Amino acid sequence: MLRFGLIGTGRIGDMHARLVAVQPDAAVTWCYDVHADSAARTAAATGARATTDLDALLGAEDVDAVLIASPTNTHVEMILRSAEAGKPILCEKPIDVDMARVEECRERLRAFDVPLQLGFNRRFDPSHAGVQKAVAAGEIGDLELLVITSRDPGPPPPRPILEACGGLFRDTTIHDMDMARFVLGEDPVEVYAMAANRVDPIFAELGDVDTAMVVMRTASGALCHINNSRRTNYGYDQRVEAFGAKGMVRSNNHRPSEVSRHGAGGTGTRDELLYFFIERYRAAYEAEIRDFIDRVTAGKPPRVTFEDGRRALLLSEAALKSYQTNRPVEVDYT
Ligand SMILES: NC(=O)c1ccc[n+]([C@@H]2O[C@H](COP(=O)([O-])OP(=O)(O)OC[C@H]3O[C@@H](n4cnc5c(N)ncnc54)[C@H](O)[C@@H]3O)[C@@H](O)[C@H]2O)c1
Repeated sequence: MLRFGLIGTGRIGDMHARLVAVQPDAAVTWCYDVHADSAARTAAATGARATTDLDALLGAEDVDAVLIASPTNTHVEMILRSAEAGKPILCEKPIDVDMARVEECRERLRAFDVPLQLGFNRRFDPSHAGVQKAVAAGEIGDLELLVITSRDPGPPPPRPILEACGGLFRDTTIHDMDMARFVLGEDPVEVYAMAANRVDPIFAELGDVDTAMVVMRTASGALCHINNSRRTNYGYDQRVEAFGAKGMVRSNNHRPSEVSRHGAGGTGTRDELLYFFIERYRAAYEAEIRDFIDRVTAGKPPRVTFEDGRRALLLSEAALKSYQTNRPVEVDYT
């Protein structure tokens, strides 16, 4: 039985807790949040104890691992305090929005021998993972083009989520940067980005963008294109397409059912797309938690590491710099 202490019981924390609670060999024993009502709600749903005292959670004997789902600007503190307490960590993305803090965290983590998995859940999505497996197995020959479409149905609430998220590139595109590295099987070395404000004036007010296109090149010469928007009027648009000399492999959008309707109003009309990340990536979040439980229990290192989080942030920073300077940016991972 792996017993979790949950740090942060908001949108994603509450969802994670409910997924842990239905695993036969795991439980949520403590829920910590600065808002007592929020901690109490998730605790009641999962049979855990609620607290507003982080030390109580980290010092509890019935906490074997922590799941960090508090706001991004608290992750470094939560990672280091959990590592000091000797607890294996599953931490939501991104590690932080400030590269200097990520580097400092990396240095300080060297003193502790605790497994840390980063929450790039999309690697565990059966459809996206199917693309990666096909590419790795050589089914399309050498990968020449990778196209990642990632468009949200709508912006998150302005406060506090949007204000604290670090902007489109570091909050959202970072998932696509990780997906690119995962499918390409190598690191992009050059990044060029254009971005715009097309969706909502709030993004410009916060000094952010809501629409972006990024093009990247790897050392072996593969090209990758990522396109992002903070708004669609047709649900969560999440597609990954890899192309090579021997063919193309694609992960398509998901719908609640595969029913198609044919009549006077149109032919082949299908359900709308699943609305957002909690619905679309449910299988991925479940597989992510399962993998963490299995690996920690077996003493194996996590599949998605702190270094993956660091490299994805370096790519997001490169995209932001490219957009700001209107020049391609070379990426230095050292
Ligand atoms: N992997 C994914 O698909 C995905 C999706 C959404 C969010 N996220 C990440 O998860 C994190 C949380 O996002 P969210 O959308 O759930 O935000 P949220 O605002 O809904 O939830 C955050 C929770 O943390 C609590 N909190 C604030 N300060 C805290 C502190 N110091 N200690 C403990 N709790 C604190 C808040 O009261 C709130 O309940 C972010 O880092 C975000 O990037 C990841």
